[in-house]
Amino acid sequence: MNKPLRVGVAGIGTVGAALIAQVASQRAQLTARCGRPIEIVAVCARSKGKKRGVDLKKMKWFSDPVELAGDSSIDLFVELMGGAGDPAKTAVEFALASGKSVVTANKALLAKHGVKLAQLAEKSGVALNYEAAVAAAIPIVRTLREGLTGNAVNRVYGILNGTCNYILTRMEQEKLSFAECLKQAQDLGYAEANPAFDIEGHDTAQKLSLLASLAFGTKIDESAIYVEGISSIAAADLAAADELGYRVKLLGVAVKTPQGIEQRVHPTMVRKDSAIAQVMGVTNAVTIDAAGINPITLIGPGAGGAATASAVLSDIADVARTQVGYTRLANDKLQNSGKPEFCVKVAPFGRPTSILTSVRKAPMQRHEGGYYIRLQARDKPGTAASIATRLAEQEISLESIVQRHPKDGPSADTAKGSVPVILITYATSEDSVRKALAAVGHDKVISGRPQVIRIEKN
Ligand code: HSE
Repeated sequence: MNKPLRVGVAGIGTVGAALIAQVASQRAQLTARCGRPIEIVAVCARSKGKKRGVDLKKMKWFSDPVELAGDSSIDLFVELMGGAGDPAKTAVEFALASGKSVVTANKALLAKHGVKLAQLAEKSGVALNYEAAVAAAIPIVRTLREGLTGNAVNRVYGILNGTCNYILTRMEQEKLSFAECLKQAQDLGYAEANPAFDIEGHDTAQKLSLLASLAFGTKIDESAIYVEGISSIAAADLAAADELGYRVKLLGVAVKTPQGIEQRVHPTMVRKDSAIAQVMGVTNAVTIDAAGINPITLIGPGAGGAATASAVLSDIADVARTQVGYTRLANDKLQNSGKPEFCVKVAPFGRPTSILTSVRKAPMQRHEGGYYIRLQARDKPGTAASIATRLAEQEISLESIVQRHPKDGPSADTAKGSVPVILITYATSEDSVRKALAAVGHDKVISGRPQVIRIEKN
């Protein structure tokens, strides 16, 4: 029997506890599939006494994650503490520098320091795996990093935040308010500690920054991403989308354009008959458009303890398999045991860090696509003509225009003399839309702010 892979886990929250439970319940299967046992031999968390529903008795307890990261009783350090700063950063750096492979679910850490950490991993010749950092149980990191090595990716986009998709689904299907749906998502453990991070699109942006690097061989650059969240989405938008044959999803999109790489996170209209529109609730989905193949869409659980832990476990198993030909000597050095080694070194971001390029950022003003625009328009002769003129000035062509009085008689708004007008444009530029709407606002034919939702071709 090959020696066990000895694992230390820092952070025993929902994901850490689920991981410990999965390793215990799948011991025989993991040993068979990896060629050696996986043993969690040490753990670290803030509070020792907390009830976690898993047996930690046989594990060495650490209260300092950095100490655990450097401890000679482990071969692999699993970081599940979260956060872009310390202690996660120092602990991961220390583990890598001391020749230990690292598995992490920490998208914030990787979005900020991923390239530096990958350099450290390269230098030490160890793995840095992070499948759980993007879309939890969906194996999207491995798909981009390994499965599609031979395909040039043109676009990668997806539903990367379970909380937002859960909220939009519940609002659409159950006609519940935004606040009620958010509360449910928090109660179910999907949302981040600060749910604004989910709702305002930053969680999606961090995940997208990793996917873009894997897809295009660029250095991770979260600051190159245009970000808009879902908090302004109203029931009226979901109802209009439904009538017009669309659904609203928060998408993260990274796409090659002649101007560079466009990276954006925003509420998006997707055609109801598209694969991504079928994705409901906390489920995530990622579509990859790559040269030479039809688009690939992966769909699966994108949040929650068990789903995230399963991705962490697959990363651990990957390390267990690829180091199987080594034995550990008394002086803690690894030595090839002489058995055939089937280790394939995979760079954390799919390419050596030395050839990752800086992102050439395509400006958002030059984004091109269709737009949904909802205006609260003055109910007077000439309003529609005035709006149409402003759009025509920017050469925006309309696919449809709907002005609606509520079925049940005039609403407070119509009583005040305004009606909702919904426009769907053909492909145009962001700049043209912004200029046209600024002019419409200037003409004083609308009240409030126009609602603008981009339409993604899929
Ligand atoms: N808050 C995240 C989500 C958890 O809702 O998708 C997984 O990153």
